[in-house]
Amino acid sequence: MDTVQNLDELRQRIRNWRNAGEKIALVPTMGALHEGHLSLVRLAREKAARTVVSIFVNPKQFAPNEDFATYPRDEEGDLEKLRGLGTDLVYIPEPGSVYADGFSTTVHVDSVSEGLCAVSRPHFFDGVATVVAKLFTRVQPDIAIFGEKDYQQLLVIRRMADDLDLNVEVLGGRIIREPDGLAMSSRNLYLSEEARKKAAIFPQTLSAIAGDAASGEPLGPLIDRALKTLENAGFGIDYIEVRDGETLRPLETVGDRPARVFGAVVLDGTRLIDNWPVV
Ligand code: PAJ
Repeated sequence: MDTVQNLDELRQRIRNWRNAGEKIALVPTMGALHEGHLSLVRLAREKAARTVVSIFVNPKQFAPNEDFATYPRDEEGDLEKLRGLGTDLVYIPEPGSVYADGFSTTVHVDSVSEGLCAVSRPHFFDGVATVVAKLFTRVQPDIAIFGEKDYQQLLVIRRMADDLDLNVEVLGGRIIREPDGLAMSSRNLYLSEEARKKAAIFPQTLSAIAGDAASGEPLGPLIDRALKTLENAGFGIDYIEVRDGETLRPLETVGDRPARVFGAVVLDGTRLIDNWPVV
């Protein structure tokens, strides 16, 4: 496994693979890797001859009051995990090379980046779209893989890639969960022992909404019940909503189209997000 920081060196590696006609898959991450990330790397290995994992904690997707400075970083541990999976190349851009002095461009995607996480994190999807556009341009992958854990992000990136003809197939990987159902996340490390135990109520509540919605119960009362359950357990609520699984259009009833329950809560000062398909 090669680790590359320099852009010219990255381009050279990519050029060699392209010349050999090899398909390239990219898995963008911010490091502090867990099984959720690693499942995407395994999927990449199935889909392409060459797998590139990028590690970059992207300042543009954090607001000034958010956790950029304290976001967990563990480069040695990450490289060890990736080595075990047969990753070909880890790209860790040189600090300062991604947003050089004078950097002035923002990629903004409409529609799917409205509502849900954008309400409390208005800067977030522009920051994500901008950095992922840069990573796509630098790595020029055939395939890029994102987790369904961040479902709105996955749809924003897919929309951007289509709209800008980036010629990258954007694939989603399923959500990997802890044994008690909590979706794996680098930020779970922030939870106290007590909060960590309580956190499982969140995915249980989303899955209960999905189950009851699938059996035709009206969504309004279902969501009200779920909000009470979470509030009584000490969760702060950012949103709990049922939306179309492809367009993210808000739904009042579940019809024939795919639907998903989306949630974001705050527990013990840590924001958790998750989603659950209605099937
Ligand atoms: P990060 O939070 O490090 O996540 C990297 C990728 O791993 C994302 O596609 C995310 O959806 C996926 N992922 C995280 N937890 C997962 C889980 N439990 N199961 C499956 N996949 C999971 O998301 C980002 O970084 C950044 O926004 C990034 C796309 C790298 C742009 O900076």
